[in-house]
Amino acid sequence: MMFERENEIVSGTVNDGEESLELSLRPQRLSQYIGQSKVKEVLNIFIESAKMRNQPLDHVLLSGPPGLGKTTLANIISNEMGVNIRVTSGPAIERPGDLAAILTNLNENDVLFIDEIHRLNKNVEEILYPALEDFALDIIIGKGPSARSIRLDLPKFTLIGATTRSGMLASPLRDRFGVMCSLDFYNVEDLKEIVLRSAGIINIEINEKGAEEIARRSRGTPRIANRLLKRVRDYAIVKSSGAIDTKTADHALKMLEIDDKGLDKLDRRILNTIIDFYKGGPVGLDTLAASIGEEKGTIEDVYEPYLLQVGFLNRTPRGRVVTELGYRHVNRTAKKANKMNQIKIDLEG
Ligand SMILES: Nc1ncnc2c1ncn2[C@@H]1O[C@H](COP(=O)(O)OP(=O)(O)OP(=O)(O)O)[C@@H](O)[C@H]1O
Ligand SMILES: [Mg+2]
Repeated sequence: MMFERENEIVSGTVNDGEESLELSLRPQRLSQYIGQSKVKEVLNIFIESAKMRNQPLDHVLLSGPPGLGKTTLANIISNEMGVNIRVTSGPAIERPGDLAAILTNLNENDVLFIDEIHRLNKNVEEILYPALEDFALDIIIGKGPSARSIRLDLPKFTLIGATTRSGMLASPLRDRFGVMCSLDFYNVEDLKEIVLRSAGIINIEINEKGAEEIARRSRGTPRIANRLLKRVRDYAIVKSSGAIDTKTADHALKMLEIDDKGLDKLDRRILNTIIDFYKGGPVGLDTLAASIGEEKGTIEDVYEPYLLQVGFLNRTPRGRVVTELGYRHVNRTAKKANKMNQIKIDLEG
C-alpha cells in the first residue's frame, strides 16, 4: 500500500521484526504493569479471590485501541493465576471443530486468550456459549434425522477476550464475561515511566526530560512510546553521544515528522482533507477513507481514537467534524462553512 511506510511509526500495530522487542519489554506481573490503576485494582481483587477459592478466574473482556496493553495484561493474568495460557485469535478459529479441539485440550483453570474476539465467526461463537456458561460442549453426531447431540464436559477455564471494538461484540457473547476492562490512553506521567523502564531494559541512556518528551509525543500508547524510544536512540547514536535528552528527542521526532502532540503526517492529512475538501465536515468515514487512500478500518481503529481523545475531531451522526482545536493544530482557521454544508450532497446518503 502506498502509505505503508509513513504509517508504521504511529500505527498501533506490530511490524515485522518488532515482536522480539515487544516480548522483552512486556511486563510479567501486575506490579510491573504501569498505569491503568482502576483496571489493575479490579483485576487484582478478582485474581486474589479466585485463587483463595481455588477456582478459575471469571471470563475477562479487555477492550481498547491497539498497543495499550491488552495482550500484555492477558499474559500477566495467567502468570498471576499460576496457570497456562493458550493463545489464539478470532480469525484463526475457522470452524467450530477448531475451537472444540482447543477447548478439549485445556487443563483445569487454564486461560484461553482469544485476540480480536470480535472477528470470531458466528458458528464458532455458538459453541463458545455453553463452553463459557456450563464448561460443556454440545456436539452433534451424525447427519439428518439420525443426528443426535451429546454433551461433553470441559475443564473449567478462563476465557480472556481482547478487542479493539467492544461495540462489535454480539451481546450474548458480551454478557458472558464476568469482568470487563476497558483500557484508556495513558497519561504522560505513566508513559514516561514506561519509557524509562524500557530504556533500562534495553540499555539506553536517557534523562527524565528526554523520556518526558518521548512520552508527550506517544499518543497515549505504550507500544508507540517504546517504538519512538528506539528510533530516538538510533538518532542519538548517530548524531550525538548516544544519550537521549530533550534536544535529541525533539530533533529526532521532528525528523520523523511527529509533531508536539504526537501526530504524524497521516493524522494531519486527515484533518487537512476534512478541512479542504469537506469544509471541516461532517464527512462520512467511507468518503474520508477514499479521499485519503487509506483503509477505513485503519482510520477507525488506529488514527481516529487518538484524534477524538485530544479533541481535534468529533463524531456526529452525519460524520466526522474537525473541531476548532483541530483547525488550530494544523494552523488553519475555521471558516463559515456551515451554510455550504447544508446544501452539500451528503455522499454517505
Ligand atoms: N501498562 C504497561 N506498562 C508497561 N509496558 C506496557 C504496558 N502496556 C503495554 N506495554 C508495552 O506496550 C507493548 C504493546 O502492548 P500489547 O501488545 O499488550 O498491546 P495490545 O493492546 O495487545 O495491542 P493490539 O491491540 O495491537 O494487540 C508491550 O510490548 C509492552 O511492552
Ligand atoms: Mg495484542
